[in-house]
Amino acid sequence: MDFKVKSGSGLSGEVQLPGDKSISHRSIMCAALAEGTSTINGFLEGEDCLATLDAFSKMGVSINRTDNKVVVQGVGLNGLKEPDSELYLGNSGTSMRLMSGILSGQKFPTVLTGDSSLSLRPMERIITPLKLMGSSISSNSEGNPPIKIQPSLKLKSLSYELPIASAQIKSCLMFAGLYTHSPITIIEQLQTRNHTELMFKKFGIEVEVKEDGDAREIKVIPPESFSATDINVPADFSSAAFFILAALITPESNLTLKNVGINPTRTALLEVLQGMGANIKLFNVIDEYEPSADLQIKFSKLKGIELDPKLIPNLIDELPVLFVAASLAEGKTKIRGAEELRAKESDRLEAMSNSLNRLGVSFDEYADGIDIQGLNQEYYSSNRNLPFKAAIINSFDDHRIAMASAIACTRAPNESKVEDVDNVITSFPNFLDTCRRIGMEIDNS
Ligand code: S3P
Repeated sequence: MDFKVKSGSGLSGEVQLPGDKSISHRSIMCAALAEGTSTINGFLEGEDCLATLDAFSKMGVSINRTDNKVVVQGVGLNGLKEPDSELYLGNSGTSMRLMSGILSGQKFPTVLTGDSSLSLRPMERIITPLKLMGSSISSNSEGNPPIKIQPSLKLKSLSYELPIASAQIKSCLMFAGLYTHSPITIIEQLQTRNHTELMFKKFGIEVEVKEDGDAREIKVIPPESFSATDINVPADFSSAAFFILAALITPESNLTLKNVGINPTRTALLEVLQGMGANIKLFNVIDEYEPSADLQIKFSKLKGIELDPKLIPNLIDELPVLFVAASLAEGKTKIRGAEELRAKESDRLEAMSNSLNRLGVSFDEYADGIDIQGLNQEYYSSNRNLPFKAAIINSFDDHRIAMASAIACTRAPNESKVEDVDNVITSFPNFLDTCRRIGMEIDNS
């Protein structure tokens, strides 16, 4: 499927976006290993989270799903059953990496596979520390899936400093830490998203977090068992980012996004865009275990920035959106320290460079970042508010490249096309409807 996009005028309305992907994955994993029944409200029915759900069903967990509400009958820490086939996890790196931690603690073997993109993603980053814990885990000779896990005796505890700022590695080890004799400690030099820490605490699992400047030391105390609980999943900030961008760059827009997750380890984009001049207001803040708020966004005059590399882990998935905003800002934007973008569902530095190039933006790509020259110094003071070139853009089969590029295309004078956008349903099943509801001119073919 392709998106066909035309330019449009002021975007408006109030929209409820789908649930947070990271929290939805973790809610299924914890609920499956808990004792008793957990209800998850606002679960993201994207393909990635459904892959996690399906994998736990195949391991004997009874899960009922109706209208974004999921009821999980937990089987306890040691109650999973051997699946009768490989566990296919589609496009979902989060499922594969986090579940490898859980499955390393089981008394049965498993094989984890994925689609062509997941099959090329690096897994040695979790295999190395899991082996240090005594897991019998392996990948293919290139360090990619399939992942094969053989049963091992009780896992050993570990103190491990993350070599990459990655919530997936941290969370994989935290889940493995549920199956050790003594506490596991993970050190991160820059804080990454802390959904696993918050979810563990919500389920009554003891987690101690020590702060030392930007660094964090996370200790998980392995429980004998833990009890089910109910979870409310707020809307995904990473999905909201596409609509924040759309409203910011479309003249006369005034858009409200309801109940969006604003966990500070996820929302660095807000801070950065506000620093660039964005008019974004938060209201109706709900201070739950995962905080949320309504966001109101208006068309804004943006200026370029030099991004603090320390913020990268807290806006890693929003960088494609930031690239587009920077392209329409006055002046230059400089982004460095973002080499992890090359290890996502696609090489997102390459993929976004390709999109920007097609749209007529000047930039210099680096191994770990990009310098983007804001397109039009007169953008805000003249009628030239469609400064991109109409284009045919390759999504590189990556949901976030497809959505960021589609939003960018609304600022080109003629119809543009974003190709191969099927993967959008991995994280944002009703993206097209939401776009249309707020007044975007977008179609599929
Ligand atoms: C995720 C962590 C991030 C992010 C991914 C989801 C998670 O990956 O890019 O979309 O849910 O833990 P890394 O931890 O590999 O940076």
